[in-house]
Amino acid sequence: MYFDPRPKTSREDLFDREEEVERVKALRAPITLVLGLRRAGKSSVILVATSEMPHPVVYIDARRFEAEPYLTFKHVAEALGEALAQPMRRFPRLREYLKNVKGISVTGFEVKISWRERGSLVEVLEWLNRWAEEDGRKAVVVIDEAQELTKLKGYNLLKLLAYSYDNLRNVYFVLSGSKVGLLKKFLKLEDAGSPLYGRYVEAVELRPFTLEEAKRFLEEGCRQYGVSPPDAEKVYRAVGGLPGWLTYFGYTYVSVRGEEESIRQTVSYAVDLVRQEFAHFLEGRWAAEKRYRVIMEAAAECVAWSELKRAVEASEGRRINDAEITRLLKNLVDYGFLEKRGNLYCPPDPLIAAAFRKKYR
Ligand SMILES: Nc1ncnc2c1ncn2[C@@H]1O[C@H](COP(=O)(O)OP(=O)(O)OP(=O)(O)O)[C@@H](O)[C@H]1O
Ligand SMILES: [Mg+2]
Repeated sequence: MYFDPRPKTSREDLFDREEEVERVKALRAPITLVLGLRRAGKSSVILVATSEMPHPVVYIDARRFEAEPYLTFKHVAEALGEALAQPMRRFPRLREYLKNVKGISVTGFEVKISWRERGSLVEVLEWLNRWAEEDGRKAVVVIDEAQELTKLKGYNLLKLLAYSYDNLRNVYFVLSGSKVGLLKKFLKLEDAGSPLYGRYVEAVELRPFTLEEAKRFLEEGCRQYGVSPPDAEKVYRAVGGLPGWLTYFGYTYVSVRGEEESIRQTVSYAVDLVRQEFAHFLEGRWAAEKRYRVIMEAAAECVAWSELKRAVEASEGRRINDAEITRLLKNLVDYGFLEKRGNLYCPPDPLIAAAFRKKYR
């Protein structure tokens, strides 16, 4: 059912996205990135693709770390240990291989990785690689919302990725990110001094649905429930084309069956989520909090750089230097609160814009 609110795990519940699923499934490069705004369908595309792979999949949901101010090796070791249970269930012989890793204990299907053995992550990958090679498979490590790992202190994950990229021919990474700029900054693919410099990565972008796609999605979704569809243009105008919000609308619409009320609920829920994310973003940036707010409020209607500068200056009654404005805007773009469209800075989605408009405050 298209309107099931959980991330989709099977293809019949996933509308469209065939090409994207195929590209993830193909594992064309040692690292595949799945990029898209919040609610674009990243987890769904990855789950559908991996459910159709004949390979062991180690799935780490890094969003569990969202509220942590910083991460240590221990967090990662714990998450990896938990994530190994599922592939071991599916491929029991994998247990025998993983038992060889120093600092790992395997009881039944439970894996514990000692946080004292820092070499154990490389070793886990090496044994996964060896098993995969001998079994004629690939070992797939998914890190959903991988940008959360930028908060990891005292352990160089990039080196691990680069080592795996270059040496472990049967290990593949799929990394998703809703804060696209942040994920790219983390991977430092274009930084000559970085371990991953110059490596090709396959990037699969999940764009919002177009009006036509949204219309078909709503029509076919409603048909599954035997309910007549809403005015798709009106829904699209209010909630935009992100599949997550259309699904939320659809689910509400087929449950309570009021178009207006379902739009209202979707907008209100989305606005709350965006504000929560923005509050997270502002943590640790308190010195510039007011400036970020002024910029987002001004940019809700799409404006030019100079106008944003003027808005910040007006709010403080003094001149601000250009580099500071550029720095603030870059952060907002990296975190997906704004995007550049030609000369203008705009919220990438109508519901992000709505979260910063006065009438919702
Ligand atoms: N192509 C699709 N067809 C049907 N439903 C979809 C599709 N894409 C996403 N959804 C639905 O939209 C919602 C969000 O999807 P999902 O959780 O996969 O997105 P996400 O990008 O991982 O979101 P988040 O950034 O919040 O983690 C879920 O309810 C999911 O079922
Ligand atoms: Mg997700």
